Amino acid sequence: MASREKSIATMTEAEAAAELAALAAEISRHDIAYHSHDAPLISDADYDALRQRNEALEAAFPDLVRTDSPSLKVGGPLAQGFRKITHAVPMLSLGNAFSLSDVEDFIDRIRRFLNLEPDTQIAVTSEPKIDGLSASLRYQSGRLVSAATRGDGQVGEDITANIYTIGDIPQTLPGRVPDVFEVRGEVYMAHADFQALNERQRRDHKQEFANPRNAAAGSLRQLDPSVTAQRPLRFFAYGWGEMSEMPEVTQSAMIGLFDRLGFVVNPHFKIVSGAAALYQEWQIIEAQRASLGYDIDGMVYKVDRLDWQARLGFVARAPRWAVAHKFPAEKAQTTLLDIDIQVGRTGALTPVAKLEPVTVGGVRVSNATLHNQDEIQRKDIRIGDTVIIQRAGDVIPQVVEVVLDKRPATARAYDFPDHCPVCGAQAPREIKADGTFDAVRRCSGGLTCPAQSRERLKHFVSRPALDIDGLGSKQIDDYCALGLIASPQDIFTLERRYKDQPPEIWIYGSGKNRGQLKDSALKLFAAIEAAKTPDLDRFIFALGIRHIGETSARMIARHYGSIEALREAGLAIASGDVAAAEELRAIDGIGDSLVSSLAEFFAEPHNVSTLSELVDLGFAPKALTAIAQESPVSGKTVVFTGTLEKMTRAEAKARAEMLGAKVAGSISAKTDIVVVGPGAGSKRKKAEELEVEILDEAGWLALIGDV
Ligand code: IVH
Repeated sequence: MASREKSIATMTEAEAAAELAALAAEISRHDIAYHSHDAPLISDADYDALRQRNEALEAAFPDLVRTDSPSLKVGGPLAQGFRKITHAVPMLSLGNAFSLSDVEDFIDRIRRFLNLEPDTQIAVTSEPKIDGLSASLRYQSGRLVSAATRGDGQVGEDITANIYTIGDIPQTLPGRVPDVFEVRGEVYMAHADFQALNERQRRDHKQEFANPRNAAAGSLRQLDPSVTAQRPLRFFAYGWGEMSEMPEVTQSAMIGLFDRLGFVVNPHFKIVSGAAALYQEWQIIEAQRASLGYDIDGMVYKVDRLDWQARLGFVARAPRWAVAHKFPAEKAQTTLLDIDIQVGRTGALTPVAKLEPVTVGGVRVSNATLHNQDEIQRKDIRIGDTVIIQRAGDVIPQVVEVVLDKRPATARAYDFPDHCPVCGAQAPREIKADGTFDAVRRCSGGLTCPAQSRERLKHFVSRPALDIDGLGSKQIDDYCALGLIASPQDIFTLERRYKDQPPEIWIYGSGKNRGQLKDSALKLFAAIEAAKTPDLDRFIFALGIRHIGETSARMIARHYGSIEALREAGLAIASGDVAAAEELRAIDGIGDSLVSSLAEFFAEPHNVSTLSELVDLGFAPKALTAIAQESPVSGKTVVFTGTLEKMTRAEAKARAEMLGAKVAGSISAKTDIVVVGPGAGSKRKKAEELEVEILDEAGWLALIGDV
């Protein structure tokens, strides 16, 4: 028992693993005594303490969760949602290609990046892109120990118990495999199984699933694994995460290994070379699409050589060495019943087509986007028209064109409003830098427009932003309508304002009793409290400043390091401080439009006071840790200029960023290192003037240890 007093914070992995093993055995002994023999050996409180200790250890060492862990046992205490698992290696997404020329560009980019001769063959694998959900399966010493969904790519949900119910997935691996072995792939539902499931749902008067992907998602995300067990899920292995050692040197050999280890790999996997051959493969599979027995939405191509994959690396969230070649969107015809206007978080007025419901690619569609006023005019879309709509993947369905032959005499043109239909403020078209009108009308009401402030709140709490559990779009709609919240600050005062209210106020409860309502309110308060310390980049993204997406938010967070520094810079830029604006613009990948929207944001006193009020309420975003572990260049600002010989500029930049350096496009007083190749010209001079450290390519490679 003595080891249980040990503080988890100072424990080694080995100690934690030993204690988890002991706890599993001990708790199981008590379970048997209690449930099977009706003869408990210890008090309930002591039993609870054992379980809590087990859970605390698992939370601190998620990789050590045992397959026989008490926390995974069905019939144990109810799981409170899913636990989170941080991916040892992030789970990325893929860039898209839509045409032969996009595929050619993909191959050309690889050739250029790697500096390969025009006649060097680049072997590329080709396989269907399965329309399911990706999952990462972690094996330790050949045993399946945990499984996670993709989540936001960095942190996923712990679906270990549910993954155990999938027959395609081996629980132990035969023979000798690397100690840590993470297999990634797609969980999906086959067409036949999907139809049978929906038939069962119908029979039981339960909601049917819209498509196999939703059915797979709904089944995988069941808190009760015994429900998942009754849902026929399958799995294709196509990739990997952490590997304690790499057993093979090509993508195709890895897939071969997965096959031998008992995973299911896709039978349409091929290795080819050249864009034309890939395109041919794409056509062959497209023709078979309807008869494969499961949904696919394109093909995925990956560079076969793993050393090349490593050199190619990633841009933002997608690898340079892989691409998804999408199949054309599925289309259908229906009637346009009416046009509604939706007001977004930046005030954009978006026309939405209200359609006679129609099924497109297995999904029922009754709304589609019409983009903007010009699009309606250009396509001459009138209410009452028969229109062709298309749906591709998860994107909102679109109206492609009107079937003019079918236009009824009663069809009428749509009069686009020039005022916001929600708050009544003017909604002009902005004049762009080139003097032309922007395509979008924007409500000028700002935060006084209820639609804009509500949409901003939805963005603020959304998954890639603060990700507050129990506070999603629907709850924001309802809480705004009830007047419970109107601003981000209000979220953080909810508890203070409502904790003593009767639980009936918590509307999230149709069908719940008072106790349950109270519980969900307490859970929400806890989630809100936990959201006070988001990563700085998520917080910057959450602010919803125009042009600041997840990637640029991350770059800004890395550069400024804290809210205070960002606020100072933002206020300076807003007041016309040229040097401050230059500093922001010098971050590679940040453009003028972002700089001006940041200035606009900080020029609005309301936004500035929101920031300080959040800080006063105890809001404290965490600075980002450097991408790489300590490296000789982490945190330094580097400029590459002139020709490089051992690598391309893009590769050099990617490598530097991996090591935690910032790569800038121009030299300033903030530059730490300039790497010059032949033909550097004026930049070299400037570096000399500013007395910045100058290295040649060899010097740089020596510095970062890539000799
Ligand atoms: S490779 C870094 N291969 O597509 C490589 N992904 O758009 C990332 N997907 O999140 C994945 N079939 O869920 C790969 N054969 C396949 C795939 C595939 C489906 C999904 C996967 C991923 C998404 C990216």
